[in-house]
Amino acid sequence: MSASTLFVTGGAGFIGSALVRMLIGGSDWRIVNIDKLTYAGNLESLSGFIDDFRHVFSKTDIRDRGALDRLFAEHRPSGVIHLAAESHVDRSIHGPADFIETNIVGTYVLLEATRAYWTALPPKDKATFRFHHVSTDEVFGSLGTEGLFSETTAYSPNSPYSASKASSDHLVRAWRHTYGLPVLVTNCSNNYGPRQFPEKLIPLMILNALRGEPLPIYGKGDNVRDWLYVEDHVSALWRVFEYGVPGETYNIGGHNEKTNLEVVDTLCALLDELRPRGDGRRYLEQRIFVSDRPGHDRRYAIDASKIEGELGWMPQESFETGLRKTVAWYLANADWTEHVMSGEYRNWVEKNYSDRNGK
Ligand code: NAD
Ligand code: TYD
Repeated sequence: MSASTLFVTGGAGFIGSALVRMLIGGSDWRIVNIDKLTYAGNLESLSGFIDDFRHVFSKTDIRDRGALDRLFAEHRPSGVIHLAAESHVDRSIHGPADFIETNIVGTYVLLEATRAYWTALPPKDKATFRFHHVSTDEVFGSLGTEGLFSETTAYSPNSPYSASKASSDHLVRAWRHTYGLPVLVTNCSNNYGPRQFPEKLIPLMILNALRGEPLPIYGKGDNVRDWLYVEDHVSALWRVFEYGVPGETYNIGGHNEKTNLEVVDTLCALLDELRPRGDGRRYLEQRIFVSDRPGHDRRYAIDASKIEGELGWMPQESFETGLRKTVAWYLANADWTEHVMSGEYRNWVEKNYSDRNGK
């Protein structure tokens, strides 16, 4: 595919920033990064890339149709990779409204703006344009002890987060079926890695451990997630964007099923090795068992044979290598986490960045 402009929504978030870093560092695409900068958006995650001449940041809400139309008219992209979302299950339980607004309404507005732009493209550009919607395995609901989610598993979302993502997946599918928009959908398992906001399991446990605080495990800690290192997710997204068949969906997963207790225990062992506690005791002693999450999905596990077989993608990291890299990153980047914990990352944005769109 020849070099041109790509829209990335949510490019200041955990996965979006990894995608932007990979594309700026390893391709000649020009990226227009569209992000509202909610609490989860952190331009410090793009430090060193923000001012690259191939990166344009726009502080824009994906629900703002006028702003999107202006961005399409100005930058004439060859595709969109849509990651902007509210993404944390616990937040969705306490306040679902933002999830409905961004994940459903926002995806609808983005689809409509994209469709208006795409419809008016010359036939050659229209044929190669792609709208790639980034979604989650949580739309499939919860597995028992056996079985895997495949691309044909029926949707059965259980949380406000997964229901809002399932809704957005259905909208994307309908825009393909009804209007012919060349869409791609990916459903990925739990990601982990550097720069993840410390409300999700792995960074929360690392930071609480280091601060001598309790490590709260929901229920008995026997819920299972299928973990994928974020850079492996990003490489899969790019493989699908470049070679995926419009109208198809692809499941992405790491073949790394772990109980939450296994994850926390492995993290504790890594920290014992890499940053032993000053008092000679073990991090495991900080574990506590707390009330379970309401409606907590029991098990997620992905059958990734379609993307592996049809597009030749395979994850590069095992859980052991990826987790070691992740712990090492959080230990070496105390500034990033301190700025997030103190709220300073908001000031970092003001101090280091002036919005080129004047917003
Ligand atoms: P994140 O919460 O770290 O980042 C989301 C980004 O979207 C933030 O930068 C935020 O500012 C931006 N955003 C939120 N609302 C917006 C709006 N209305 N307009 C514009 N920007 C807005 O999320 P993440 O973990 O990087 O996830 C990215 C995508 O991948 C999401 O769609 C999520 O559902 C999906 N996904 C995540 C995981 C995971 O384990 N994190 C797994 C599978 C799929
Ligand atoms: P999380 O990282 O929130 O991802 P998701 O809910 O999207 O899978 O949680 C991963 C698992 O860890 C999930 O089973 C809930 C559990 N969990 C805890 O046990 N304690 C915690 O403090 C958190 C945040 C999660």
